[in-house]
Amino acid sequence: MLDEPTMTGTNGGAQFFDALGDVQSDSLLALIAMANADTRSDKIDVGVGVYRDGVGNTPILRAVKKAEKLLWETQQTKSYIGGFGDRRYTELLRPIVLGRHAGDDRIVGLHTPGGCGALSLGFKLIAAAHPGSKVLVGTPTWPNHVPVIEAAGLNIAQYPYYERLQTCIRFDAMMDAFDGAGAGDVVLLHGCCHNPTGADLDEDQWRSVVEMVSRKGLIPLVDIAYQGLGRGFAEDAAGLHLLLDACDEVVIAQSCDKNFGVYRDRVGSLFLKTGSAAASKRTMDHVVQIAREMWSMPPDHGAACVRIVLDTPDLRADWDVEVGEMRNRINRIRARIAGADPRLAYIGGQFGMFSMLPLSPEQVHKLRDDHAIYMADSGRFNVIGMADHAVDRFIGAVVEAMNG
Ligand code: LMR
Repeated sequence: MLDEPTMTGTNGGAQFFDALGDVQSDSLLALIAMANADTRSDKIDVGVGVYRDGVGNTPILRAVKKAEKLLWETQQTKSYIGGFGDRRYTELLRPIVLGRHAGDDRIVGLHTPGGCGALSLGFKLIAAAHPGSKVLVGTPTWPNHVPVIEAAGLNIAQYPYYERLQTCIRFDAMMDAFDGAGAGDVVLLHGCCHNPTGADLDEDQWRSVVEMVSRKGLIPLVDIAYQGLGRGFAEDAAGLHLLLDACDEVVIAQSCDKNFGVYRDRVGSLFLKTGSAAASKRTMDHVVQIAREMWSMPPDHGAACVRIVLDTPDLRADWDVEVGEMRNRINRIRARIAGADPRLAYIGGQFGMFSMLPLSPEQVHKLRDDHAIYMADSGRFNVIGMADHAVDRFIGAVVEAMNG
């Protein structure tokens, strides 16, 4: 009988992956893990951006639940859906995202895995067209923006956006940065419900930005992940629509994860406008090829549910009601926090899930240790992350920290 060959030694001395060093991940993932591991019964997790209702749950929307049932009853196959994903889903999003531009055949879209997939795809497309392009990114911004842009091989240039301690947008400094940029530089803008600050541009500011972007020949990439959760669907996309009025080339990374509450299903889309329908079609062929390299074809389930909601009048009407309920709850909690202390009054004038508190990382850590309150080190907190009964305790702890 032959001896079994034994595997001894290692390939490369087990050092191959040591070259990677320690991971420089964005802190939100670590924060989610830390909050989950805390067993204190009164913990308040205002770290990650998920909607929570009055009792602290993140419910599945009624309309989505019914759409899932319909999908289960009617879906005949799980065969591939193709590189564009669910085309009807993208078509139904057009009036919501593009408003008066929905009929513009220079704007083409495709279904992506979440807003993050749309961002990656948009930046990779830019890199394919112009390797090493410069992307102007506001400070602060969503912590995953910079890694996604760098992973596409693009270069970051920061522009001042928000002064945390003064709680105001640094509008003049931002405009100076745009003025100093060159034609073909990309500018990343938040469509609404700015993450992490909650500080949105007002209409006059949007008009000035649009005029500058258009005059300087900048390429806007708009990240719109919270439409409907600020002021309303049309209002939240008003700045984007002004950009589309003025610019021939615009990239839009959109997400349904928040406004349909389908976070884990990863539902997004990328829209692209170029100077002509023919050029958009040609560019979209590149988008589909890049998507093919990244995820081949997008996951179906979440987008299919969104499609069913938008295609079924009574579900669509109920979804509008549910988004309105989420928005009203966000704004009610904002008003409650804003009314508790003059130093927090600014929170009442901001939008969406996030605002930033004027706290140092040490104060944030102390809130975590002493009160089981979890928020990002930057002081970003999810306004809607806590149950009704927890709001007063949260405010009390934050005021104590600010006094501290
Ligand atoms: C957030 O900012 O908390 C959300 O967008 C979730 C995420 O992926 O970071």
